[in-house]
Amino acid sequence: MFAPAMFAPAMFAPAMFIPGMFPPAMFPPAMVDGLGSAQAKQTMTLTTPPPTTVPLRADAGRGGSGRRRPPRTPKGRQVDPTALAEVRDLLIDRPRRRDLLIEHLHLIQDHYGHLSAAHLAALAQEMRLALTEVYEVATFYAHFDVVKDGAAPPPAVTVRVCDSLSCALLGAERLLADLTRKLGPNVRVVRAPCMGACDRAPVCAVGHVQVMQADAAKVAAAAARPAHAECYPTPTGFDAYAKGGGYDLLKACLDGKRTRDDIIKIVSDAGLRGLGGAGFPTGRKWSLVRAEPAPRLFAVNCDEGEPGTFKDRYYLERDPHRFIEGMLIAAWVVEAPDTYLYVRDEYPEVILLLRQEIARAEAAGLCKHTKIHIRRGAGAYICGEESAMIESIEGKRGLPRHRPPYVAQVGLFGRPTLEQNVETLYWVRDIVDKGVAWFTSQGRHERKGFRSFSVSGRVKNPGVKLAPAGVTARELIDEFCGGMADGHTFKGYLPGGASGGILPALMADIPLDFGTLEKYGCFVGSHAVVILSDKDDMKAVALNLIRFFEDESCGQCTPCRVGTEKAAHLMAHGPWDAGLLEELSALMRDASICGLGQAAPNPLLCVLKYFPDELNKPLGHW
Ligand SMILES: Cc1cc2nc3c(=O)[nH]c(=O)nc-3n(C[C@H](O)[C@H](O)[C@H](O)COP(=O)(O)O)c2cc1C
Ligand code: SF4
Ligand code: FES
Repeated sequence: MFAPAMFAPAMFAPAMFIPGMFPPAMFPPAMVDGLGSAQAKQTMTLTTPPPTTVPLRADAGRGGSGRRRPPRTPKGRQVDPTALAEVRDLLIDRPRRRDLLIEHLHLIQDHYGHLSAAHLAALAQEMRLALTEVYEVATFYAHFDVVKDGAAPPPAVTVRVCDSLSCALLGAERLLADLTRKLGPNVRVVRAPCMGACDRAPVCAVGHVQVMQADAAKVAAAAARPAHAECYPTPTGFDAYAKGGGYDLLKACLDGKRTRDDIIKIVSDAGLRGLGGAGFPTGRKWSLVRAEPAPRLFAVNCDEGEPGTFKDRYYLERDPHRFIEGMLIAAWVVEAPDTYLYVRDEYPEVILLLRQEIARAEAAGLCKHTKIHIRRGAGAYICGEESAMIESIEGKRGLPRHRPPYVAQVGLFGRPTLEQNVETLYWVRDIVDKGVAWFTSQGRHERKGFRSFSVSGRVKNPGVKLAPAGVTARELIDEFCGGMADGHTFKGYLPGGASGGILPALMADIPLDFGTLEKYGCFVGSHAVVILSDKDDMKAVALNLIRFFEDESCGQCTPCRVGTEKAAHLMAHGPWDAGLLEELSALMRDASICGLGQAAPNPLLCVLKYFPDELNKPLGHW
């Protein structure tokens, strides 16, 4: 590093006087003394400049005070004044708090269509953050386009084509190829993960506006006149909801006519479980969080990124206040002064709707006990994992945390935090109003309650199906979805989205509920059921799913980051090596930090176990 040949004059321009780069001969004696003597000697030998070296500074050799001239500019990267003014114009008087970093990045991305290096440097200065912190966050999220100095920004229009499983079954790959050809170089066509509209596959997003049952002509027309997302026209606004007795329960809670213990008991007796995927008993979670010291916070999970899942969107669009009332009751139960509602960026119409309807609830004086903050995701499936979501709300990359401590103990901003899925909260009012028996009297095959299944794939009528807990896949297809799609024979199904494994049709009579599928290497998770047919190659299905996990891995731990990549490679090239894939899967399951890496091998293990006849066939495609 300090070889004499490297002392080129340009390296000693005044602005580059970085202590580590000084030849030790220039250090005051005390600094050299600080080195071990052998090390000091060696360093001296290595670094003493040759006599021909040009003077290091204009005043070198003149003696005098030995003080340097003050630098002409501040150290480090200089902020472009125009970019700084532009960032200030966008931020106006918004607080420059760290946790708002992602919100502020959205402002710039929305306005300019990308994040230039100059704007990022300006934002870092404005928020008093290190530039690296801003960069690491901006580059983590798929919906931010970071453009380096001198690089061309992306075209004004971006078309995202969902290539997750339900869309792949219905022609996403063909659509990608058609669009790349048809739209030309002025429109950017990129792959994207599930957009929460799997029942209307294939799906694209032109900018932020989704095109359902997309074909190349529809998407080209939308790309020619890109539109802004508009507030979803819900059939049940504030007045309609309140007219039907809406918010009476919340008012009773706030007026002291109901006690917190009473509400927790009803929810517990009904057996309401977390519907985000883990199925943790809701009443118990509320008690655990209440047992932690105040102030406690509340985070609501509307990230809904599990491929095949679209139930939260369904309820928010149709009946947002039933969810808002449940959210406000839960905030009251745990006495959270602040509630953070994290909504995925793929649902812009829902974000607008929630802003509008929450403002109405606030205006009616129903939210005085908790301040609601809506936070917008930025395209990262992992942010649905509860601790990653908390990191993201804090304005950071969505890296899951190690547990313990659990988020109920140390969560958002270091405070005990209740985290709850949208649908879990949606049912609170009905369960309390209609009673425990109303909920528990439903259910099949010895299960209790009902569940919202997001059904997609090869059925006649896909969609959200409110069905008894414990219903089987066969019953779902026959009774709720009008049977298989024409020309398709039932071959297998995903009981719980991308993570929940794959089962063959001959195992379609197992009750679908928490705790029943684990012994088969599967789980019901968020109740996203994708139906597969004789037209679908199971190896291609598993490859699609592992590629999703490879793309969405946060990269924090090696078993998941490297394991998903290796598995995808092994599955895509040549015959499957069952032994090697099983070994790799065991490592991922046992050593990954969070549920993503632990569950990622489920689909491939299921193909090895339940579809042995498929293994010797060449890899299929749609
Ligand atoms: C990789 C991963 C992704 C997840 N994605 C979501 C999600 O999109 N929405 C959700 O509510 N829960 C998701 N979860 C579950 C959450 O971690 C958490 O259990 C849930 O939000 C708690 O709320 P609940 O008890 O009401 O289900 C995910 C979990 C993992 C491991
Ligand atoms: S398992 Fe995957 S997603 Fe989870 S922390 Fe590790 S790398 Fe990130
Ligand atoms: S929207 Fe494409 S798979 Fe869900």
